[in-house]
Amino acid sequence: MRILHTLWGASIVLSTSVYAQETVQDAARIARDLVDRSLDSVGSMATIFPSEDTRLSAQPFSLPEYYASCHQNGSLTLLFLPISRHSRNILHTPGQATSISITSQRPLASHPRVALIGNVTIFQDIANVPDREFIQQCYLSRHPDAKGWLPDDDEAAHISYWARFDPHTIYFVGGFGDEHYIGYIPFHLYQAAGASKATGVKGETSYGMEQQISMGTRV
Ligand SMILES: *[C@@H]1O[C@H](CO)[C@@H](O)[C@H](O)[C@H]1NC(C)=O
Ligand SMILES: *[C@@H]1O[C@H](CO)[C@@H](O)[C@H](O)[C@H]1NC(C)=O
Repeated sequence: MRILHTLWGASIVLSTSVYAQETVQDAARIARDLVDRSLDSVGSMATIFPSEDTRLSAQPFSLPEYYASCHQNGSLTLLFLPISRHSRNILHTPGQATSISITSQRPLASHPRVALIGNVTIFQDIANVPDREFIQQCYLSRHPDAKGWLPDDDEAAHISYWARFDPHTIYFVGGFGDEHYIGYIPFHLYQAAGASKATGVKGETSYGMEQQISMGTRV
């Protein structure tokens, strides 16, 4: 709240709490918070049906997907299940491209949301998964139920592989455009926004979400 005193001594109270337009730096930080501190670590993934598909060739497809933010640079850890529709679409898409969007806990029009566009690297050989133990521990800390379909588990319900989503483009809608940033966030700003963040903190963000992260050191 801001109080202005006029020449005549009267006070005008402005009830807005946002004085300045959100900068692209603010946007980068808020976007990284949305992704890293998401309470459920579930994003909306979007893929495209392959041209060979007899019914839905080249049609878009979107369905929620588990992710875990286990990399300092903003790359996300995924479990890639060959049986899933998304996985089959990704395998048929040049460069294994996909998009994942993440919104705030209460997805109001006035609240921020972010779309990450990038591609997926699948680690088919379990012996060659970088930092495998850390990745698994990090992912399970977000999705304990995934212990039923981990890679290299003969008892698992489905075949799965560790995978990494590397975003290259970030599109952000901070809320209403009169106060918030809307548009692309330079990738280096987004990557850097994770670098200085303390881990294991509980906090309240600028958009009033009670959030918690409990992660080890990110790689
Ligand atoms: C992801 O995209 C980059 C840049 O376009 C490309 O070099 C790389 O091969 C792609 N990765 C996969 C798994 O296709
Ligand atoms: C992010 O970091 C991981 C290693 O932790 C690396 O393999 C990956 O290529 C990096 N991604 C980008 C987009 O820089």
